[in-house]
Amino acid sequence: MFSSPTSRSWVGPDRASSAREFHRTLPGYEPTPLTDLPALATELGVGRVLVKDESARLGLPAFKVLGASWACHQVLRQHPGARLVTATDGNHGRAVARMAAHFGVPATVFVPEVMLPETAELIAGEGAEVVRLEVGYDDAVRAAAAFAEQSPGRALVQDTAWEGYTEVPGWIVDGYRTLLEELDEQLGAAPDLIAVPVGVGSLLEAVVRHHRRPGLPHPTVLSVEPDTAACVLESLHAGRPVTVPTGDSVMAGLNCGTVSASAWPVLYGGLDAAVAVSDDDSLRAVADLGALGVSSGPSGAATLAGIRAAADSLRLPDDAVVVLLSTEGDLR
Ligand SMILES: Cc1ncc(COP(=O)(O)O)c(C=O)c1O
Repeated sequence: MFSSPTSRSWVGPDRASSAREFHRTLPGYEPTPLTDLPALATELGVGRVLVKDESARLGLPAFKVLGASWACHQVLRQHPGARLVTATDGNHGRAVARMAAHFGVPATVFVPEVMLPETAELIAGEGAEVVRLEVGYDDAVRAAAAFAEQSPGRALVQDTAWEGYTEVPGWIVDGYRTLLEELDEQLGAAPDLIAVPVGVGSLLEAVVRHHRRPGLPHPTVLSVEPDTAACVLESLHAGRPVTVPTGDSVMAGLNCGTVSASAWPVLYGGLDAAVAVSDDDSLRAVADLGALGVSSGPSGAATLAGIRAAADSLRLPDDAVVVLLSTEGDLR
């Protein structure tokens, strides 16, 4: 675990965007549920535990379409009719494929070797061309970027930033803000702690930016990663971005070895605590949330595993309000 007691007072610049107004125009948009789970509050010794349940978001079983939809919309304004190109661990690619069909353009989605065949089929089922590479996620992103660069008729819609590629990932982060604005409205006040599942850290960037605005309450932000792909945790320990090797993980959406370059300075400044969890702990959380009536896949349920691992060190008050972002449904 990593903790940074001074990060709560960090203040980041706000970023205005009209992503939420755009989301409201999409068919089927409505805020996702925020579910009170008193049994977990008792277990953790806090006042309330609430789960933001992203198992059904704009017709897909994960939050990722919030970022992909806004970014695809913006990219296609710049490059009308372009083929949308991306690499994915699963949810982002499916969301880009869905949006390409929505906007009537073709899509090519690069996927890493560890992707389950059924996940690749879901992406292909949206009408996208799926290219499976015998590489990990980070290299699949490089391949997608190279493929997109080969023709002006192709546009990369990637959910992670690197030097020289920040505009599109910025739109993706802006799109994730919708989830946080809904949460504010549903809760009526800032929580004491929000737990966030982390792959490349773009969702986490959105959360930290949102909860480090000037003049507003600054809740504790806890990041949760697989112990086999803990790039944010390792980077925080090192004090600089480091790439970690990745293998297989049940938390497929979190299986990334390199933190987004745009996310890094925001996380380094404003993230309070980071923890890594095992596959077994995540699967136990999937089962426990399922038993409480919340459909949560391993990447989403990781936040319950994370708060279980970190609760003692965080010394939360017994009336604390804890929000867990459950970013995907359980498809198994
Ligand atoms: C279900 C789910 N949760 C969380 C994340 C993490 O988001 P990020 O890669 O922005 O850290 C992902 C990323 O694909 C995901 O699919």
